[in-house]
Amino acid sequence: MAGYEKPDFWTLKAKKEGYPARSVYKLEEIVAKFGLIKSTGTRILDIGAAPGSWSLWILRKLQGRGWLAAVDIQDLGVSPKDENFRFIKGSILDEAVRSELRTLGPYSLVVSDAAPSTTGNRLVDQARSEELVDSVMTLGLEVLAPGGSLVMKIFQGGEEKRLLTELRSRFTQARGFKPESCRSISFETYLVATGFKG
Ligand SMILES: C[S@@+](CC[C@H](N)C(=O)[O-])C[C@H]1O[C@@H](n2cnc3c(N)ncnc32)[C@H](O)[C@@H]1O
Repeated sequence: MAGYEKPDFWTLKAKKEGYPARSVYKLEEIVAKFGLIKSTGTRILDIGAAPGSWSLWILRKLQGRGWLAAVDIQDLGVSPKDENFRFIKGSILDEAVRSELRTLGPYSLVVSDAAPSTTGNRLVDQARSEELVDSVMTLGLEVLAPGGSLVMKIFQGGEEKRLLTELRSRFTQARGFKPESCRSISFETYLVATGFKG
């Protein structure tokens, strides 16, 4: 845990630039690498958005020329006043929340940094993680517009292969990508799928 005690380069950079979490640079890297936000009028969904760095970064990037919905079981630590922004407090495992997100779609990009709270029990944590990732993927497939892209966080393990197989059947391309700004000791990685077949 020693590595977590001292603020690192990315944490300090995030603070300086007004973001509540260093995770913003992972999204910046993914969007740049895969060219995920190109045109004006982009409609985006941010799943597991709190404390709000990804949402804030997306809104800055869109500069009022797109629309963003964000969802989390926790409150955001930021309160963007952007009129092109809507925050929904709730769990994506809840059908009422999923239904509301479907109504606000379709989206050209769905990003998920969602991670379940951990218990320390490996089996329980693994099961929670799988349930959440499966829900993100199912929701993404329901709300994406044809041609759209999906980015989701997973924890490296047996699930990566199964998820990539499913994504490759629904998108023209899908692959794993670990941003440079991920902590090297972290097991997290991201799956990036582009060209949703609808
Ligand atoms: C690593 S944080 C996201 C950080 C965020 N991308 C940012 O840059 O500020 C993971 C988030 O996933 C959320 N989360 C976990 N389970 C969820 C669920 N079932 N529905 C919605 N959000 C969930 C957690 O509350 C937590 O805020």
